[in-house]
Amino acid sequence: MIKKYRIGNPIPTDSVIEEMEITAESIPYFIRDDDAKSLNIHMLKNDKVYGLGETVRGINKRGHIYTGFNTDDGLHTEDKRSLYASQNFFIISSDVRKLGVYVDTPGRVTFDIGFSKKDELLIVFEDFDADIYLIEGDTLTGVVKEFRHIIGRSYIPPRWAFGYGQSRWGYRTADEIREVADEYDKAGIPLDMIYLDIDYMEDFKDFTVSDEKFPNFKEFVNEMKDRGIHLVPIIDAGIKIEEGYDVYEEGVENGYFCKKENGDDLVAAVWPGRVHFPDFLNDEAREWFGDKYKVLLDLGIDGFWNDMNEPAIFYTEDHLKEVFDRIDDYKDMELNIYSYFDFKELVASIGNNESDYRRFYHEYKGQKIRHDKVHNLYGFNMTRAAGEAFERLCPDRRILMFSRSSYIGMHRYGGVWCGDNMSWWSHLLLNVRQMPALNMCGFLYSGADIGGFAADVTEDLLLRWTAFGIFTPLFRNHSAFNTRRQEMYQFESKDVFKNLVELRYALLPYIYSEFMKAALEYDMLFKPLAFEYDDDRSLEIEDQLLYGESIMIAPVYEQNVTGRHVYLPEKMKMIRFRAYDDYDEEILEKGDHYLRADLNEVLVFIRKGHVLPLAKPGMRTTNVCSEDLIYLCFEAEPGSYNIRR
Ligand code: NOJ
Repeated sequence: MIKKYRIGNPIPTDSVIEEMEITAESIPYFIRDDDAKSLNIHMLKNDKVYGLGETVRGINKRGHIYTGFNTDDGLHTEDKRSLYASQNFFIISSDVRKLGVYVDTPGRVTFDIGFSKKDELLIVFEDFDADIYLIEGDTLTGVVKEFRHIIGRSYIPPRWAFGYGQSRWGYRTADEIREVADEYDKAGIPLDMIYLDIDYMEDFKDFTVSDEKFPNFKEFVNEMKDRGIHLVPIIDAGIKIEEGYDVYEEGVENGYFCKKENGDDLVAAVWPGRVHFPDFLNDEAREWFGDKYKVLLDLGIDGFWNDMNEPAIFYTEDHLKEVFDRIDDYKDMELNIYSYFDFKELVASIGNNESDYRRFYHEYKGQKIRHDKVHNLYGFNMTRAAGEAFERLCPDRRILMFSRSSYIGMHRYGGVWCGDNMSWWSHLLLNVRQMPALNMCGFLYSGADIGGFAADVTEDLLLRWTAFGIFTPLFRNHSAFNTRRQEMYQFESKDVFKNLVELRYALLPYIYSEFMKAALEYDMLFKPLAFEYDDDRSLEIEDQLLYGESIMIAPVYEQNVTGRHVYLPEKMKMIRFRAYDDYDEEILEKGDHYLRADLNEVLVFIRKGHVLPLAKPGMRTTNVCSEDLIYLCFEAEPGSYNIRR
């Protein structure tokens, strides 16, 4: 059962699509404190808390504090309260209750989940204006499904987007891209996408292509398409201020950029230098920006990734000026311990400074609203601009789209990637833990930068991360320009990488079918064990996941190990894959096991009464056929598996 409650006068977010009556009674279970602008609920000893989408730490969120305020912070350490997304939906769960809570508020909100007081879950609002949806159900999946129905169906990408993608911030020319494709083909490793980072543009201007670095871009796109490879360019939020640049000129002329209090367009800086930010919250501006994607669609592009849309700000012109004015005070000073830190902080304050979010405004639903009040909707509406445009421009085609920043509601228009992680083992585990929480909030087409974005990857980390990544719908290896090259063919174990990626392609009929079922039935693709088993051990497992209806996965996420402990919540059939056509099978009893998993092995567990179909892999998703499948079964008939095409 789902009920909607209202506090104050919230700004609508469009995250919920179902019209619902606001319940007149006061919010049950929670103590409302208007002075503290908070809601407080007592947690039972056994309560676990699941959800909050893309956040740090465990599957059970109890014992930490999280803030819904989209943040461009590349250091995803355990202490961080916010990453790039605000997905304010969670479930408090024990054997006596399953209570789903969606806190729909576009500004800052903090979830103190037993951080200050171990048995209290405290929601503190900056503005006490929110719609609160409470969902009571008997099962965790039931609560998720009810929630997902009111927020609408999840985005579905084209089938080829379930292939493998190679990306790197640093591919500067068409020839470099050709080389990547050649090397993958030479190594026999399947590949469907190569991503174009900011260097494909002319001076980092959205919807332009550098003629010098990518001559005859349209032909190049076709050449790659003929090879079965889709090029997927990045689009950034900031629009370069430059006379003669049509996007800039049209935006200024029509008043489509975010404005300061005095009505001037805000000047900030990102990659292109000085930029304006489109007001994606303004319907007209959103439509205008969305139509710009046509420039690239017309050149044959059929996928995009939206970046820097928290929005990330290197500096604003106004704040930079304030800092320079204050720097003068330090000029003749001998810096002591206090002034040294003050000075350092002053200089560091130019980037992603939250006070900058109070310097500009949106025209949102007929009202002028200061950015910080609707901050979490910015990336959502950038991606919505694209999604709505694709519906107008190419209604019969699916276009690949995913974004860095997000809010619930954006899941209808695109997927997400989890931003700038690091080549750390702990971030592989973080990736595992984030997936079910993202799925709860409707973000099914998601994944992290496999191998890690920043820092130098090691071969074994990339192997283990790939062995998990073959299950994430967005399966992309991406890294930063100043790190060790991370393409699979750069490493000694090319054959193992080939086997792993081939396994992904062999699993494609299953992955695609399960993705489609999750999208169309408002379900999750990745589930914590606790969503289907209620024994005490299952409730605490944080490093194994159920994946679709048939299997459980148990990724290895530690260095220098040749196996791992796995808990089986029931009897299962283990498949230890070395390649899609080379594996051992073993029936294992419920309980604890230590199982060997070498660097070239992937453990998959088939649930009783279920089937795992496998296809013959190909070098491209188009070569993978959903007919003539091999069926790995555990006490089930092959025909009982329902393939979606
Ligand atoms: C930040 C993004 O998170 C990263 O993936 C990208 O490579 C850089 N921006 C450069 O565009």
